[in-house]
Amino acid sequence: MALPNVTDLDLNEARVLLRVDFNVPVDAAGAITDDNRIRAALPTIRYLQERRCKIVICSHMGRPKDAPDPRFSLEPAAARLAELLDGEVVLAHDTVGEHVEQLALDLPPGGVMVVENLRFHPGEKSNSPEFAAALARLGTVFVNDAFGAMHRADASIAGVPALMDRACVGLLVKAEVEALSKVMEQPSRPLVAILGGAKVSDKIGVIESLLRRCDALLIGGAMAYTFLKAKGQPVGSSRVEEDRVLLARRIAERCAERGIRLLLPVDHVVAQDLKADAENRIVETIEDGWMGLDIGPATSEAWAAEIQGAGTLFWNGPAGVFEMEAFSSGTRAVAQAVASCPGYTVVGGGDSAAAIAAFGLADKVDHVSTGGGASLEFVQGVDLPGIKAIREKGQASSRSGGPR
Ligand code: 3PG
Repeated sequence: MALPNVTDLDLNEARVLLRVDFNVPVDAAGAITDDNRIRAALPTIRYLQERRCKIVICSHMGRPKDAPDPRFSLEPAAARLAELLDGEVVLAHDTVGEHVEQLALDLPPGGVMVVENLRFHPGEKSNSPEFAAALARLGTVFVNDAFGAMHRADASIAGVPALMDRACVGLLVKAEVEALSKVMEQPSRPLVAILGGAKVSDKIGVIESLLRRCDALLIGGAMAYTFLKAKGQPVGSSRVEEDRVLLARRIAERCAERGIRLLLPVDHVVAQDLKADAENRIVETIEDGWMGLDIGPATSEAWAAEIQGAGTLFWNGPAGVFEMEAFSSGTRAVAQAVASCPGYTVVGGGDSAAAIAAFGLADKVDHVSTGGGASLEFVQGVDLPGIKAIREKGQASSRSGGPR
């Protein structure tokens, strides 16, 4: 059964509990530094407003310790949402309870309310039935548009759908699932995957999944040094996961067996310290005392050629320490190549989404995921708790001939 989304349901004048992922970065003063996740929820919110729904928005933010903590208030997110919608957004100072339920009932058609951080309540992370039931009382229809949190079996993700009259996903989750599915199921060939980031161990599930599907695998970031060590190349003091060297060798062997082109860095930007102003050099061989912190220009050129030929491209993880100017060239080159790739291009969330945005190229790719962990788990083939809960609710409703 296809995953029900907002366009499948008659939502006219419904009271909707909308789960979003407003877990956005804020600076020391509490100001939002990247509002992409709030912008990404706008199509669903506007869609519901057009149908004169009362919209009760809930989200987590950061990792407060099961109790209210002003540093993690959703107040800045609610204020930003009001600006983006150019309209009023009510902020409830709690998440659930009679007062919040009354505020929801009092909303005008098309009215929007944000309730406080779900994680101010211990029942959210523990998926307590009581907390899920309290949330479910805030609406009659549940819409989950929190792609970035779909991998969390929390009350608002996994517990609520079964308790409401109807449940479906929002337009963002629909778009995310379609984009990532397009990469994983019947991609236009060749499928080129670029993986970066710090650790092989974080990406092993994704690598396993890609080994069954991709035609070329480009590995950068610190994890490349574990692969280079596995090949017997000198890596100096580069970051290596010693306990994954054997695994990296096996992955390289499997690439060879399956005819997957494995592209590791052939040159490097190295320094003696991980410092923005450390003296750096471009080398082909990393000497003792030096560590690789970015791919070098010859690697960037070879990768750009591979990327240009991709029918489908998936990128997750930066090629180097791109937050430091001296070690950002490789990730910039990857971002530029991905942006000009004529194939279908998808950038996973987290650091790679931040990188493509930092280089001003996010609008040049087909899809930038709002989910870090969620997109990685999706690509690994995990049945994400949020998607499973909506699918099961849809199946239960269709069996009982329930409301649409
Ligand atoms: C994310 O930023 O990846 C999501 O919002 C999930 O947040 P969490 O890792 O704190 O559950």
